[in-house]
Amino acid sequence: MRIAMIGTGYVGLVSGVCFSDFGHQVVCIDRDGEKIARLDRGEVPIYEPGLEALMRKNIAAGRLTFSTDLAAGMKDAEAVFISVGTPARRGDGHADLSYVYAAAEAIAAQIDDYLVVITKSTVPVGTNREVARRIRAARPEADFDVVSNPEFLREGAAIEDFMRPDRIVVGLESDRARAVIAEVYRPLFLRETPIIQTGLESAEMIKYAANAFLATKITFINEIADLCEKVGADVQSVARGIGLDRRIGPKFLHAGPGYGGSCFPKDTLALVETARAHDSPVRIVSTVVEANEARKRAMAGKIIAAAGGSVAGKRIAVLGVTFKPNTDDMREAPSLVIVPALREAGAEIVLCDPQGRKEGEALLGEASWAGGPYEAAESADILVLITEWNEFRALDFGRIRAAMKGDLIVDLRNVYLPAEVRAAGFSYVSIGRS
Ligand SMILES: NC(=O)c1ccc[n+]([C@@H]2O[C@H](COP(=O)([O-])OP(=O)(O)OC[C@H]3O[C@@H](n4cnc5c(N)ncnc54)[C@H](O)[C@@H]3O)[C@@H](O)[C@H]2O)c1
Repeated sequence: MRIAMIGTGYVGLVSGVCFSDFGHQVVCIDRDGEKIARLDRGEVPIYEPGLEALMRKNIAAGRLTFSTDLAAGMKDAEAVFISVGTPARRGDGHADLSYVYAAAEAIAAQIDDYLVVITKSTVPVGTNREVARRIRAARPEADFDVVSNPEFLREGAAIEDFMRPDRIVVGLESDRARAVIAEVYRPLFLRETPIIQTGLESAEMIKYAANAFLATKITFINEIADLCEKVGADVQSVARGIGLDRRIGPKFLHAGPGYGGSCFPKDTLALVETARAHDSPVRIVSTVVEANEARKRAMAGKIIAAAGGSVAGKRIAVLGVTFKPNTDDMREAPSLVIVPALREAGAEIVLCDPQGRKEGEALLGEASWAGGPYEAAESADILVLITEWNEFRALDFGRIRAAMKGDLIVDLRNVYLPAEVRAAGFSYVSIGRS
């Protein structure tokens, strides 16, 4: 199959590389010339484990190319994916669909033979029908179908998620489109991956409902964690105790500083706005949005309280700034709220992150950067763990203690064993463990 992928970001690049690995001929298109130039040189512009090797393999096999030229990239394509960004629109929280519609209109101009236009971007209910309407308006004679195919991959485990998804969701309305999708995903169909075939609206809704549910689960355990601290319970035990109930499940029950990332914050907001527009409120999700924002702000207060009420003049070493480990993505990361608040409270900040420095330098303002956790700990009064990279999980606490001036560790991910940290001479504060 000849596939064009419009938008070569975290989702488009991973999807394009994996489709080429399935044996398809793929052109990844982006309007960002610098990104395409780097990809052409075999460089991956994002950090995603395993991506570079798989990309190079498929470039070498002649199945994967890159282009800024949509017309040339779409030539002879049988399927074109829209995987451009859908950020929250400034001011009102609705998904900004301008990139999606711009891509749809650019596609319309290139339709030659029968074409399947597949939306992989996360888009609110009704968008795929509007994509079809716009293409039809631009090219009344064009032969095409529109398919909704939301993506569920997680950054940091994106290739594994794409190659072995829990399910594939496709919203479509024609047998011809179904046949093309079956060909596009043939290796996964052969592996008996569950396929959820629905109409356009249900496919769009599944993606938002899934993300809102996961965000709710995280927010739920975060609030339970706060209550645990007050009543003398341990949220780790509580999470395990409820997670083993198969009706609940153990995933997404890790208490922490609040969710961030490129998806949950904007998708929960967009769902709330869709619900408002249809006069059918999703009160739980509205509360989750509010609670999560408040939580990120509260984390700085927690650190300040642990320091005895003030961090003015204190040197704080921050381990981890990306929104989660194994990515360089900083979008909506809790660190973007916590670090400025600590600085405003008078602290001097030293940051450390295995992949977040490039993005973080622009976003986190005045701070120095250390090459590793021990360097960051040098002369620090307080050590704060925000993102649980593996590098930070097994620290030599003796070495950290010797490097630090102070003795306070604030662990916002509950990765350390309280007894072990305290035995090394630290005062230790974590989440939901009194
Ligand atoms: N990042 C994730 O983990 C994830 C997971 C599932 C779904 N999604 C969804 O996938 C979509 C893409 O997300 P992302 O994180 O890959 O975004 P991204 O910002 O990393 O990439 C989007 C890319 O699209 C390009 N682009 C925008 N308009 C274009 C146009 N008209 N022509 C060509 N290129 C264009 C941009 O230059 C950019 O490179 C979003 O809707 C997101 O919600 C993301």
